[in-house]
Amino acid sequence: MRVLGIETSCDETGVAVYDTTLGLLADALHSQVAMHQEYGGVVPELASRDHVRRVVPLTERVLREAGLGLADLHGIAYTQGPGLAGALLVGASVATSLAYALGIPAVGVHHLEGHLLSPLLGQPRPAFPFVALLVSGGHSQLFDVGGVGRYRLLGDTLDDAAGEAFDKTSKLLGLPYPGGPALAHLAERGTPGAVKLPRPMLASGDLDFSFSGLKTAVLTLARREAGAATPDSLPEARKADIALEFQNAIVDVLVAKAFAALDETGRQRLVVAGGVGANRELRARLLRIAASRGCEVFFPDVSLCTDNGAMIALVGALRLADAKASDYAFAVRPRWELTTVSAATVDSENPARGA
Ligand code: KG4
Ligand code: ZN
Repeated sequence: MRVLGIETSCDETGVAVYDTTLGLLADALHSQVAMHQEYGGVVPELASRDHVRRVVPLTERVLREAGLGLADLHGIAYTQGPGLAGALLVGASVATSLAYALGIPAVGVHHLEGHLLSPLLGQPRPAFPFVALLVSGGHSQLFDVGGVGRYRLLGDTLDDAAGEAFDKTSKLLGLPYPGGPALAHLAERGTPGAVKLPRPMLASGDLDFSFSGLKTAVLTLARREAGAATPDSLPEARKADIALEFQNAIVDVLVAKAFAALDETGRQRLVVAGGVGANRELRARLLRIAASRGCEVFFPDVSLCTDNGAMIALVGALRLADAKASDYAFAVRPRWELTTVSAATVDSENPARGA
């Protein structure tokens, strides 16, 4: 079974073809980063218009690369939410109308379910059940995952998500958007221990996160050091010290809570997904500790940590078996809790092949 996946929830147009027997056949992405950079963040109207321009050429490209025609597709999956309403509508309308024209099912997919299951695109593939640490621009959550669509929330952020904290801190230091990669890059040149920042909620005794205080701590520190000037005018070397300590603080908290979640649930496998999952320090630290504790950690390929069409095509394939005969009506869901998605009836031993 071959499924086309279309992702347009934010500032990346992602299109991919996933085959339940052969795996990922083609995957193409257009990032709008350069377009939004001059505004310091995503401008929703510009994002929607750019998705309109990109989605059809990217679809043609992945089909060409996979050596397929439209008639070879068995279903089309699109990101139904959460995300920017206008951006979501582009993917939803293109996917649904194409599916209607081809007489095949259209499946609306939860964006975070895409992230959460994206490690299933790699090898070795994690078996259910597992604990998932989902760290993206909008979410910092821990889930106990029993199977496709069986997600129990263990911990959540009380304010800013990890990626959001990276982005905001990066902005106040005058680094380019998107902040996560820029800050992580600068951190490589920092001196360990040169500055000290708090580890929010490290000893809270639960699995929740809070990162807005960390961003404020950076602002207070940078303002004090900059004096009459603005924080972004600090010397590059000092910014690097702050970036390193900031990254260490976030990683310390994420790692501690992820392993606490494994302890609490008795699971042996940890899956890490979402944009912050691309962070090298986070990956290295989790792997090191997992090895010493005898448990396993699974990550998507770095290129599949941030938004992409492959994860949407994968979830579409897993859920196609449950897709009802469609009347091709669609509605997007800009706000949508992952715990409210339905459980799928796929074979949990061999999820990517379906029941
Ligand atoms: O999952 P994602 O692509 O979008 C959402 O669904 O939110 O995640 C984007 C987030 C951004 O906040 C970005 O700054 C962060 O992931 N990010 C990183 C890194 N790469 C991306 N944060 C830290 N280190 C990185 N290497
Ligand atoms: Zn995302």
